[in-house]
Amino acid sequence: MEHIVVLTGAGMSAESGLRTFRDADGLWEGHDVMSVASPEGWHRDRDLVLQFYNERRRQLLSVQPNNGHLSLVKLEQHYKVSIITQNVDDLHERAGSNTVVHLHGELTKVRSTADPTYVVEWREDLNRGNLCPKGHQLRPHIVWFGEAVPMMEQAAIITSEADLVLIIGTSLQVYPAAGLLAYAPTQTPVIYIDPNPATNYELEHRTDLKILEGTAANVLPQVVRELLNK
Ligand code: APR
Repeated sequence: MEHIVVLTGAGMSAESGLRTFRDADGLWEGHDVMSVASPEGWHRDRDLVLQFYNERRRQLLSVQPNNGHLSLVKLEQHYKVSIITQNVDDLHERAGSNTVVHLHGELTKVRSTADPTYVVEWREDLNRGNLCPKGHQLRPHIVWFGEAVPMMEQAAIITSEADLVLIIGTSLQVYPAAGLLAYAPTQTPVIYIDPNPATNYELEHRTDLKILEGTAANVLPQVVRELLNK
């Protein structure tokens, strides 16, 4: 069975109603990214950070997967599909995709500030005083700027086994995620779907690259149909 590796970014969920990052003046829902997505921001103002992710989590629970997410599930009828997402939402899982690796963490999980291995599901608000069993404050299970990306190694191994790479809705600006393509074998075809496609070193050096200017909910279902009819 051929293996399709799908790398998704914020554009994947845009048509579900979740805003992307880089086309919003560098602000994430009105906040300077570093104040809500860095260890420094967390130390400066925990209440602001907790409140920010509480809002994101509530918003996430009010939106639905779009046709792009749903079409990726259909690919599993004929292909082995591994999704590597930079998104912290759970829309791929809610659509029904079975293999989803989250490079930048998950909004619906929290972890201990003292023990990174203590990670639990969390769908309500997270507040000061919510503690792990050892008595330490819980924090959002999000990879902040300046922090390690623990899932990167697994993502690199998956990418190295790709027969086709689909890239959807990412500006390919944030490393190490943006460099994942380097792990795909040189002859592996790459299809990049984005209404405003970016470029980077890894993309420029592909030998078999097709760029489709369009949105996830619009163009991706067509690409999936073609792949299923092959
Ligand atoms: N369908 C597909 N792509 C879209 C759509 C859409 N409907 N709308 C916008 N896009 C594209 C934009 O053209 C852009 O290229 O989605 C991309 C979004 O880029 P970014 O906002 O930079 O998001 P992303 O690449 O996922 O950011 C990477 O940066 O802030 C951090 O941790 C955060 O995971 C995030 C990482």
